[in-house]
Amino acid sequence: MKRPRVFVTREVFPEALDLLSKYYDVEVWDKYQPPPYETLLSKAREVDALYTLLTDRIDCDLLSQASRLRIVAQMAVGFDNIDVECATKLGIYVTNTPGVLTEATAEFTWALILAAARRVVEADHFVRWGEWWRLRTGWHPMMMLGVELRGKTLGILGMGRIGSRVAEIGKAFGMRIIYHSRSRKREIEKKLGAEYRSLEDLLRESDILSIHLPLTDETRHLIGESELKLMKKTAILVNTGRGAIVDTEALVKALREGWIAAAALDVFEEEPLNPNHPLTAFKNVVLAPHAASATRETRLRMAMMAAENLVAFAQGKVPPNLVNREVVKVRQPGF
Ligand code: GLV
Repeated sequence: MKRPRVFVTREVFPEALDLLSKYYDVEVWDKYQPPPYETLLSKAREVDALYTLLTDRIDCDLLSQASRLRIVAQMAVGFDNIDVECATKLGIYVTNTPGVLTEATAEFTWALILAAARRVVEADHFVRWGEWWRLRTGWHPMMMLGVELRGKTLGILGMGRIGSRVAEIGKAFGMRIIYHSRSRKREIEKKLGAEYRSLEDLLRESDILSIHLPLTDETRHLIGESELKLMKKTAILVNTGRGAIVDTEALVKALREGWIAAAALDVFEEEPLNPNHPLTAFKNVVLAPHAASATRETRLRMAMMAAENLVAFAQGKVPPNLVNREVVKVRQPGF
């Protein structure tokens, strides 16, 4: 039998490519930038499998034209860039990489929380760009004041794997944990003393609000003007989920008018963020380039997991991290 072909949309760890090449003819897009949509489309028409990233738009138009395509293996836990419903109808398997990025993302969320609460980036700039020097102040009792976390309320929006881990770490900081999620998480409630809240109460009560939801039709712009207005003036908003969960224009207004105290953002409605974007002008906003899962260990595990899903499929097995379970009824796994 002819070996199936896979198009890998970016350079990933060689270990993953080595594994893939045991089962597939592998073509890698080796530029730093994502392949343009037209390229993606023409590759999708030629191959049996795609190995994708969240920057690749895999819409129904592309999937419908990809007559040989049987599986899209995404190297990410989120897959809002893929039209999964359409893939399912067409009998195309979609997989993701859950679990392996929980620690890295939770740790980075904490890096952002601490950076915003204790003004770490601002402090660095203060020293680096000579303001401290110019002020000739040395230690000053009123300089760079931030907020303490112990005893404050950490609000988790989306208590899945990542949200739960962020909550656990919050407990270690002596914070009170409240959350809003699609469903109640009794185990976390028991373990951390976390309390469930309506979205409105979560917004009203949180000192730190950390977003850990997937992006869906229901969660797009879930946090807009009226939600931001419910938050405390002293609150810090942290987003390591997806940019579009927050209405960016509303957030800029909230920061400008002081409805909240600060924000720490790893994700944006448009990525990369334009350096001229109003968000970059605020001292009380910490920015990162969608890098929460970016540790060597995690990115290697993600790369391997996506490859392993493709290998399982090539062996005629249901891939371990199948997103669209109903696809099995439409088509058997394998080429
Ligand atoms: C990163 O944002 C991911 O979804 O894995």
